[in-house]
Amino acid sequence: MKPFSESCEQNKQVILETIKPLLQNYRSVLEIGSGTGQHAVYFAQHMPHLQWQTSDRQENIEGIQLWLEEAHLSNISSPLVLDVMQAEWPKLSVDAVFMANTLHIMSWHDVEAFFSQISKVLEKNPSLIIYGPFNYHGQYTSESNQRFDQWLKSRDPNSGIKDFSEVNQLAEENQLKLVADYEMPANNRILYWKTKLS
Ligand SMILES: C[S@@+](CC[C@H](N)C(=O)[O-])C[C@H]1O[C@@H](n2cnc3c(N)ncnc32)[C@H](O)[C@@H]1O
Repeated sequence: MKPFSESCEQNKQVILETIKPLLQNYRSVLEIGSGTGQHAVYFAQHMPHLQWQTSDRQENIEGIQLWLEEAHLSNISSPLVLDVMQAEWPKLSVDAVFMANTLHIMSWHDVEAFFSQISKVLEKNPSLIIYGPFNYHGQYTSESNQRFDQWLKSRDPNSGIKDFSEVNQLAEENQLKLVADYEMPANNRILYWKTKLS
C-alpha cells in the first residue's frame, strides 16, 4: 500500500510557495530523504521546468515508487538508494539539493557526512534548501519544538533538532553561503544556501 504522510499534506503548499521562486531558473533538483514521495510528486507537478530526482534509504524506495507510478510524471526520476552515510554517493549533476524534515532525524555525524558529500560529489556546486525545525542560540523556538525534540531523542538519542548556527558553520566550512532564512508555519524554517563560487 502507498505510504502516506499527513505532515506532507499540511506543509507542501507553504513549502512550494517559498521554494518556487528560488528554483525558477534551475533545471534539476536532488531530493534527499524523499520519505513517502508526496513532496516530490507535488513539487514536480507545480514546477514542470524541473527534473526532480528522488532518493532515500532502501526501506523507503518501494513506497516512493508507488507514488511515482500513480502520478505518472515525466519530470520525476525513479528513486536512488542514497543514505548520506554511504561512502560512495552516485555522481550527479544537479542545480539544487532539497531536503525536508530530515536533518533532525539524523545524528550530527550524519549531518557532517551530508555536508561534506554534497560539496564533493555533486558536480555543479548546487544550491541547498533545507526545510524543518531549528534551534537558535541553543534555544527552542517553541514549546512544541521542545516536546518534539524530546520525543525524537526518546526514539533515538543521536537524533534531534539541530542548532542553526552549528549547521550554518558546517555549511560555510563546505563552501556554502547562507542566502536566506525563511520563517515557516508551525515553527519551521527554510534555509537556503548557495555555493560561495556562484
Ligand atoms: C521524517 S522523514 C521526512 C520525509 C520527507 N522528506 C518529508 O518531509 O515528509 C525523514 C526521512 O529521512 C530519511 N533519512 C534518515 N536518515 C537518513 C540518512 N542517513 N540518509 C538519507 N536519508 C535519511 C528517512 O529515511 C526518512 O525518509
